Amino acid sequence: MFQPRASHAARLQIVPVKQRNAALCKRLWSEVGAGFWTERIRWSPMRWQEHLRQPNVSFWVAQVSGQQVGCFELTESIRGVKIEGFGLLPPYRGQGLGRDLLTAATQQAFATGARKVWLHTATDDHPHALPNYLSGGYKIVRERDLRHPVQSQPVQKLGAARGRVV
Ligand SMILES: CC(C)(COP(=O)(O)OP(=O)(O)OC[C@H]1O[C@@H](n2cnc3c(N)ncnc32)[C@H](O)[C@@H]1OP(=O)(O)O)[C@@H](O)C(=O)NCCC(=O)NCCS
Repeated sequence: MFQPRASHAARLQIVPVKQRNAALCKRLWSEVGAGFWTERIRWSPMRWQEHLRQPNVSFWVAQVSGQQVGCFELTESIRGVKIEGFGLLPPYRGQGLGRDLLTAATQQAFATGARKVWLHTATDDHPHALPNYLSGGYKIVRERDLRHPVQSQPVQKLGAARGRVV
């Protein structure tokens, strides 16, 4: 059975964000994804509220000593749980927290009772993104060309990775 790797950082806390804090989700989504993704960039706080009202969607803030360091979103469906908007604010990257955030997100996703957890990444995401997923036990299940890469590079590949329950 797939088990997310152990977290060595008890310092990382994840806290669910309530719908009324849609502005916080909007800010974290934008700041974490700046330079990496453009989805939802034009969403108003109202649009965020509508999105968060869906019972199958939950948004989580990661904190260290009460300081916000990153976020992720989970979407539940009959297929399992998808992780989106996963990442850290710039000052907190490259210190091992991404590894612990992935453990936390994966544990939270499996805590819903899901048998499958997956996410998408792209070659124009942060260079630690794919290594982090592979190191965390995720497997690449599909690769394809991106139609609209964020940066203007000739060929971009999108890899889908997921935790497997064997
Ligand atoms: C992707 C992200 C969460 C990774 O977090 P991080 O703090 O930078 O990475 P960490 O220091 O925790 O290291 C995580 C993994 O990255 C890889 N990594 C870290 N430093 C590395 C380096 N210098 N060279 C190569 N790989 C490295 C390793 O696989 C490491 O896992 P391991 O320790 O189990 O081997 C973070 O960089 C981020 O939020 N980036 C912006 C948003 C983003 O791209 N999100 C992903 C969308 S799919």
